[in-house]
Amino acid sequence: MKRFVGVSLSLLLVLTLGVLGLAGSHGDHGHSHSHDVVYAVAEIIPFEEGGPTGTAFFVEANGVVYVTVRAHGLSNPLQGVHIHEFGDLSTPAASGGHFDPTEGSHGHPHEHGSHAGDLLNIEVDENGVGTLVMVKDDITLSPGPLSIAGRAIVIHAEEDLFTPENIGGARVAGGIIELVSMAY
Ligand code: CU
Ligand code: ZN
Repeated sequence: MKRFVGVSLSLLLVLTLGVLGLAGSHGDHGHSHSHDVVYAVAEIIPFEEGGPTGTAFFVEANGVVYVTVRAHGLSNPLQGVHIHEFGDLSTPAASGGHFDPTEGSHGHPHEHGSHAGDLLNIEVDENGVGTLVMVKDDITLSPGPLSIAGRAIVIHAEEDLFTPENIGGARVAGGIIELVSMAY
């Protein structure tokens, strides 16, 4: 289990730094400095033994947050993932509702007016391994009203249909989003 997390985290780093490299090549951001980049990680563990485990990796750079999630032990082709309000995973309900600093309603994460905590579904292969990669411009890792640091990322059992009634069913796993310092 530990070994999987380690391998997974290395992969996330490669994926995310790849994304950053591409983003950086688009233009000349002479005012952007490496110390503006903020990183966070969440180790995702199941609520019940045998449930999904994984790692979420977050990078804030160029005014957006790159989100990468890898998990295994998933059971459906698409499963909902959100950032929940509270960093408490002592019970499935303890993390509260979706992070919603702008009084939105549940919806597709790329639609205006959705909860800031709404993420895309994680896409799961035939081996139960899931990957989610997306860019968010309505959350931050650095301090402020949109910060997700210290909150929870939660995986649900079923597909999120992005309607208020169908957000993905039961909460099966989650992790606390913790800022990490990385020196280059
Ligand atoms: Cu949720
Ligand atoms: Zn929501």
